[in-house]
Amino acid sequence: MHIIGPDTRKMALVMVGLPARGKSYTARRIERYLSWLGYHTRVFNVGQYRRVRVGAQMPHDFFDPDNPKGESARREVALEALSDLIEWLHGDGDVAIYDATNTTAERRAMVAAQCQEQGVQVLFVEIACDDPSIIEDNIRSTKLSSPDYVDMDPDDAVRDFRNRIAHYERIYQPLHPDEGAFLRVTGAGRSVTVSNVDGYLASRLVFFLMNLHLTDRPVLLTRHGESMYNVNHQIGGDPDLSPQGQRYAHVLADFLDARFPDPESVTIWTSSLKRAVQTANPLGRRSLAWRSLDEINAGICDGMTYEQIKQEMPLEFEARHHDKFRYRYPRGESYEDVIQRLEPVIIEIERTRKPVLVIAHQAVLRALYAYFNSIAPHECTRLPVPLHRVLELRPHAYGCQEVRVSLDK
Ligand code: F6P
Repeated sequence: MHIIGPDTRKMALVMVGLPARGKSYTARRIERYLSWLGYHTRVFNVGQYRRVRVGAQMPHDFFDPDNPKGESARREVALEALSDLIEWLHGDGDVAIYDATNTTAERRAMVAAQCQEQGVQVLFVEIACDDPSIIEDNIRSTKLSSPDYVDMDPDDAVRDFRNRIAHYERIYQPLHPDEGAFLRVTGAGRSVTVSNVDGYLASRLVFFLMNLHLTDRPVLLTRHGESMYNVNHQIGGDPDLSPQGQRYAHVLADFLDARFPDPESVTIWTSSLKRAVQTANPLGRRSLAWRSLDEINAGICDGMTYEQIKQEMPLEFEARHHDKFRYRYPRGESYEDVIQRLEPVIIEIERTRKPVLVIAHQAVLRALYAYFNSIAPHECTRLPVPLHRVLELRPHAYGCQEVRVSLDK
């Protein structure tokens, strides 16, 4: 699927920055975000190519720019990754992320020239973190567990990695506006500088990167309590909660009081539909109702049961079964539509540093869940999201931990 607007050609996002600044982390976050929005996105990590071609455990002097053997081996793997990236973009790839240090203007000019020759638009993304605590954290949390330092004494590994950084520092040239379009992220999203950037996709990325932060906090997802439509197997509508659903709302309130006693410590969002708002009422906390969180609009099928749709509109039923992701209910929505309208919710969740509780609906929560778990959007349409469960997600640097709490009493 290609939903890149008319102003965007195939694009290479070329990461720039010293080691341990969060380039790979940022690359992966961009990959997850753009993939979820429907862009075919892939990270090409030059470090992984190096580990395969040259071996993982190279001492720091391999990275010394004055070591001609190391320099030429590193250039070779960088070129190999770049050529794979361009080939992939010539196929069905939309956005490729070239994850390497690219610390000199000369190296960047070479990368940009090769991409442009092949009709690939280049956007540099520089991660210029100067916060020693973030760098220290990155070294300890990601580098020590990297295959480069497996079985090595942690202090020796840290020392070696610091020496490796020092080699890059000697030659590092920050991006200059003459080099083309770039985004510079400073201090883990504290500020984003934009230079020569034009176009829809690049502007979307600026917005996304501005809202990223490293604060660890959970995102809790739950469907509303059982509704009268759930009882009758009808879809859509704006029904009230059933007695069982009202009970769930109270159990959820107890769960929240135990888990987050301070009412201000959690941000609570519901859809604008009655069943979600009624689920939030007994919590006795402030909540915000978003229309973006409303359930998939079933159009002319709203209020029907699946059995009725099958009997009365067999072609619609079959079409949805055949391609549930793209199928759009007549005068309603598809899952693809739902994802597009959920984008501001994702940006807000990314921006929020407090725990967030989202009380919404089956299709909407499938879409949000897919984002946090890097599940391809078209694969989200049948994910199990039962009633009366809280899914507690804890997004971290390279994935997402999950706890499912059943509150079915
Ligand atoms: O049945 C509950 C419900 O939230 C409906 O309102 C909605 O149409 C449906 O789930 C979405 O699930 P699916 O995409 O599997 O039909």
